[in-house]
Amino acid sequence: MKHNVALQFEDGVTRIIQCDAHEPVCDAAYRARINIPLDCRDGACGTCKSHCESGTYTLGAYIEDALAGDEAASGYVLTCQMRVTSDCVIRIPVTSDACKVEVAEYEGRLAQIVRDSPTTMSFSLETAQPLSFLPGQYVNLKVPASEAARSYSFSSAPERAKLSFLIRDVPNGAMSAFMRQQAKPGDVMTFTGPYGSFYLRPVVRPVLMLAGGTGLAPFLSMLTWLNAHPCAHPIRLAYGVNTVADLVELSALDTLKAELPDFDYVTCVADRDSDHPRLGYVTDHLQPTDLHDGNVDVYVCGPPPMVDGIRQWMSGAGVIPANFHFEKFSSTAQGQAA
Ligand code: FES
Repeated sequence: MKHNVALQFEDGVTRIIQCDAHEPVCDAAYRARINIPLDCRDGACGTCKSHCESGTYTLGAYIEDALAGDEAASGYVLTCQMRVTSDCVIRIPVTSDACKVEVAEYEGRLAQIVRDSPTTMSFSLETAQPLSFLPGQYVNLKVPASEAARSYSFSSAPERAKLSFLIRDVPNGAMSAFMRQQAKPGDVMTFTGPYGSFYLRPVVRPVLMLAGGTGLAPFLSMLTWLNAHPCAHPIRLAYGVNTVADLVELSALDTLKAELPDFDYVTCVADRDSDHPRLGYVTDHLQPTDLHDGNVDVYVCGPPPMVDGIRQWMSGAGVIPANFHFEKFSSTAQGQAA
């Protein structure tokens, strides 16, 4: 039986390989032309030591010098010995370059371009094969007929034939201008990826998602994935924007709220002149119960001041979440994800 194993490198590059239950991960990686650092290949030196973030596996045979008992207990593995027994995510402690990972380039056809609001557009790409990625990750998408590329998080879940993205319409943005003026269904676009360490970890406690503007995209991907892989913990999303015109995908969120067993969300608008029922920042609308006295995994995606503000707010409130994952993006210079 084959399992999907996501190898996540230090520089944020991720490759998803197929691994047979009986073969060591390093062999499956080698078949995929990924040279994980190895020396003895015998569980003796520790050169291939990595950290398995999620999934189940057997450790195989090794000596304590290569992998200490406390390391094994905290998720460290030897990729020359481990056999996976489910899909896994493994962090490899070197860059993708060091493992000779070639940049994977893909092609997709524009299927749909939608004007969601005066400030936001969404589009989807159809690819020949469904693309594997971790919910929350992003790709670098080339602007056709130019050298420019922009980073955008998927708003769709992995393994779908159609990839969706949500973008802010930046007045002088290269991708925004292309989407506004030239793009039409059928256009071919190329992209590399998937990238990024902002992705949904195994849900083992309540989850709090905080989105700013089009930082909603990775959460749509995570929530859609969770809808197909239900968890036993509450999921809350606070989605903040500058003006009411920036609020998008509310019907998708309502559908998720109706379908996901313990999911709820609130929206808020920073513009104090708005007639939206909740004004201010996302932190103004969190309930103490959303923080579970710190027993919560927090995910934040938005502009840098928002991410920094939330971190400061949490420390001021005396809340130390079990995990704090974040992604900062600039919608002008670098595109969506950073
Ligand atoms: Fe030596 Fe894996 S390569 S322990």
